Amino acid sequence: MGKFLDLGSSFLALFRLGFWSYTVSSGRMEEAKKVFDGMSKRDVIIWNLMIRGFCKRGDVDLGLSLFRQMSEKSVVSWNSMISYLAQSGRHSEALELFHEMRELGFQPDEATVVIVLPICAHLGDANIGQWIHSYAESSKLYRNVISVGNALVDFYSKGGNLETALQVFKDMPCKNVVSWNTMISGLAFNGRGELGVELFEEMINNGERPNDATFIGVLTCCTHAGLLEKGQELLDLMSKNYHIDPKLEHYGCMVDLLSRGGCVRMAYDLIRSMHIQPNATLWGSLLSACRTYGELELAELAVKELINLEPWNSGNYVLLSNIYAEEGRWDEVEKIRVLMREKSVKKAVGQSMTG
Ligand SMILES: *[C@@H]1O[C@H](CO)[C@@H](O)[C@H](O)[C@H]1NC(C)=O
Repeated sequence: MGKFLDLGSSFLALFRLGFWSYTVSSGRMEEAKKVFDGMSKRDVIIWNLMIRGFCKRGDVDLGLSLFRQMSEKSVVSWNSMISYLAQSGRHSEALELFHEMRELGFQPDEATVVIVLPICAHLGDANIGQWIHSYAESSKLYRNVISVGNALVDFYSKGGNLETALQVFKDMPCKNVVSWNTMISGLAFNGRGELGVELFEEMINNGERPNDATFIGVLTCCTHAGLLEKGQELLDLMSKNYHIDPKLEHYGCMVDLLSRGGCVRMAYDLIRSMHIQPNATLWGSLLSACRTYGELELAELAVKELINLEPWNSGNYVLLSNIYAEEGRWDEVEKIRVLMREKSVKKAVGQSMTG
C-alpha cells in the first residue's frame, strides 16, 4: 500500500512538472513563475528552463536576475545566459559574463566557444578570440568538433585575418558544408573573390555538395571580383546541376554583378525572367546602375516598378519626374504631380522636382 502511494505521488510530481514545462514553453511565464516559486526542489534544469522562458519572451533582464539568484549554475546555464545577452544585442555584457564564468573556474565547452567567438568578432576583440583559439587547440576541441573550427574560421575572416582563417580551415580534419561556406564567404568579405571561386571549385572536386548559402557566397565572390561570365555559369549550375532554385539573394548578387559590369540591359532581362517576385532592393540597384550608365529608358521602367512596390515612397516619384524632365517630357512631369496628389504622397523635405 505504501509503495503504491509513493508511486502515486511521484507520478503526480512528474505530471505537475510536465504541466509546468508546458506552461513555460507556451510562454505563460507569470503562471510558470508562481509554480516555480512554490516548488520545494528546483534543480539546475528547472532553473535553466525558467530563465530560457523569460529570455525567449524578450525579458532578458528578468532572465538575468533569475540567473543571478541561482546558487548552482551549470556550464549550460552560463552558455545560455551569454547567448541570450548576445542575441538581444548586449554583446559587452555577454563577454563580461564569459569572463566571470572563467574566473569562477567553469571550463568552457564547445558550445561556449561557438557562442563567444561571434561576440568577439562583433566587438572586434581579437585578444579574447585568440585566447579561445588556443584554448580550443589545447583542449582538442577544434580538431574534434566541426562547429568550433567553423566558428574560428568565421571569427578570423570577420576580423580581416584571412591567413589564420585559411590556416584553421586547412587544419580542420573534418569539414562540412558550413565550413566551406564560411571560408568562401570570408574570402568574399575580404575582397578575395577569385580565391573564393577557386575554393568553391575545390569544394566541388572534393565531392562536397553545395547548398543555397554556398551559392550566395560564391556569387558574392564573383560580384567583388567582377567575374561576369563565371557568375552566370554558376547561376546556371545552381539550378541545373544542384536543383536549387535561386532566391532573391542570388538574383541580387547577379544583378549587382551585371550592373557593375555595365550590362544594365542584361540585368533588366534577368529580373524580368525571374520566377519569383523581385523586391524593391533589386529594382533599386538596377535603377542606380541605369543612372550611372545613363540608361534613361530602363531607369523609367525600374522606377515605375518601384512606385508599384512602394507607392508611399516619394523619392521614386521625384526620380521619375527628374528622368522625364531630363528628356523634356513636361506633360509626363505634370502627370506625376497629379499622381502624387491623388495618392497623397508627401514630398520629403529637401527633395526637388524639376519642371
Ligand atoms: C529584398 O530581398 C533581399 C534578399 O532577401 C533582402 O536582403 C532585402 O532586404 C529585400 N528588400 C526589401 C526592400 O524588402
